[in-house]
Amino acid sequence: MTIIHISAECYPVAKVGGLADVVGALPKYQNSPEVSSQVIMPFYNNKFTKENVFNTIYSNQISLGNTLVNFNVLTLKENKLEFDTFFIDIPELLFKDYVYSSDDTERFLSFQIAVLDWMLSWEKYPDIIHCHDHHTGLIPFMLQESYNYEAFRKIPNILTIHNAQYQGWFPHLKVGLIPPFNFNHVGLLDWGGTINPLAAAIKCAWHVTTVSPSYMEELKLAANGLESLLSAESDKCSGILNGIDSHVWNPETDHYIIKNYNIKTVKAGAEANKKYLCDTFNLDFEKPLFAFIGRLVDEKGSDLFPEVFKLALEKNNLNILLLGSGNSFVEQQLEALKKDYIGTYNAFIGYDEKLSHIIYSGADFLLMPSRVEPCGLNQMYALRYGTIPIVRSIGGLKDTVTDISKKDGFGICHNNATVLEITNAIDRGINLYNDQPKYKKIRKKIMEIDHSWDVSAEEYIKLYNSIN
Ligand code: ADP
Ligand code: GLC
Repeated sequence: MTIIHISAECYPVAKVGGLADVVGALPKYQNSPEVSSQVIMPFYNNKFTKENVFNTIYSNQISLGNTLVNFNVLTLKENKLEFDTFFIDIPELLFKDYVYSSDDTERFLSFQIAVLDWMLSWEKYPDIIHCHDHHTGLIPFMLQESYNYEAFRKIPNILTIHNAQYQGWFPHLKVGLIPPFNFNHVGLLDWGGTINPLAAAIKCAWHVTTVSPSYMEELKLAANGLESLLSAESDKCSGILNGIDSHVWNPETDHYIIKNYNIKTVKAGAEANKKYLCDTFNLDFEKPLFAFIGRLVDEKGSDLFPEVFKLALEKNNLNILLLGSGNSFVEQQLEALKKDYIGTYNAFIGYDEKLSHIIYSGADFLLMPSRVEPCGLNQMYALRYGTIPIVRSIGGLKDTVTDISKKDGFGICHNNATVLEITNAIDRGINLYNDQPKYKKIRKKIMEIDHSWDVSAEEYIKLYNSIN
């Protein structure tokens, strides 16, 4: 079986968030003697593409409305990834030092058209086309409706929704950019009076998944306008929980962290990493370290942090370290806090893969008070590294973290993303930390939880077989 994942991001080639981690891991776990799982993604101008050598295997021209666009398909000369990866090179649109920008309609539409145009030249078409998020959402529509791609009508295709907040909307004025199709079916593109690639994919894909079962249920009630569509299409929708790449995220072999460790040596290992963080960021090693890693957007509850952090830090019984970037007002507030809590608070505004690994291993608790969390990978990385997650019970966080008050519980959960509930949850974390025997027992227990992709990768294969 040949599975083609089509995505805007894929770790380690280009990463903005968890989408990259998923697309960079799932194919590895799907590959077997019977299955070839491959990735097609844009060719960006970034560190990865600068450091690698590529071969051109195909070149052609597509029409984006009245504009002719040249593209090349590239492969890695020496592929160190554990799956075949193909890069769509469109110099004037995609080859940028960023992944997303304001002209994404043209960028990702030309990407999607180029993918299908290239596929027409294949001797054997794929058995499954697996699209990820709205950037590839017009592919299920084009497979079903476009005159140019009639050859692909029978290829089963799947859409995975990683985040339904973003839908790729663009005005009907731009409908001419989409390759010719039966205009009587233009309604398939529309949702709420505008072209909505995510909605079009939900309508046209053979099956739709979300990245956790709870998120699928939540979307039927709140999906940034798509609630009724998801309810109407619920027969072909299901939630499959993301896994983690337990080879990349392994404290025993992780080359980013200061000291490697396993469940037996976690005390010494985690302490060495915490010591490094405390020395680097001027924090107090004796106090518990609470951390946050992620995008500073309202979805993650980050607008509440300035107030939460102030209230928590006033008590002078913890450290807080934040790694993230996003909303500039929140960034400024988080920077401004530094001068008031020297010695127990610090923030690194930016993106730093290495530092994120050290934080997962050196922090005592990881905060995730998300308003929306389709799956969330950070809590699973934290668990694997022995860092206790403090989460709002929503989406994938609800599906992966059980509160310590429950039987077999191992994390701290709260129901609402409010300043009060987050600060109470932090206080519960401090109480747990002060009960060192219990804290250490939980730390070992969480490292044993297996969230690797093995189970979910198999679930996807079953799903492909069921729609085939
Ligand atoms: P989302 O995709 O919504 O941002 P996820 O929890 O699925 O959230 O995945 C986030 C991924 O991005 C994780 O691998 C996390 O470690 C990483 N990440 C987020 N922000 C940063 C940052 N500032 N520096 C390094 N890694 C980050
Ligand atoms: C999105 C979601 C996040 C999820 C990730 C990978 O970015 O916000 O919750 O873990 O995709 O599926």
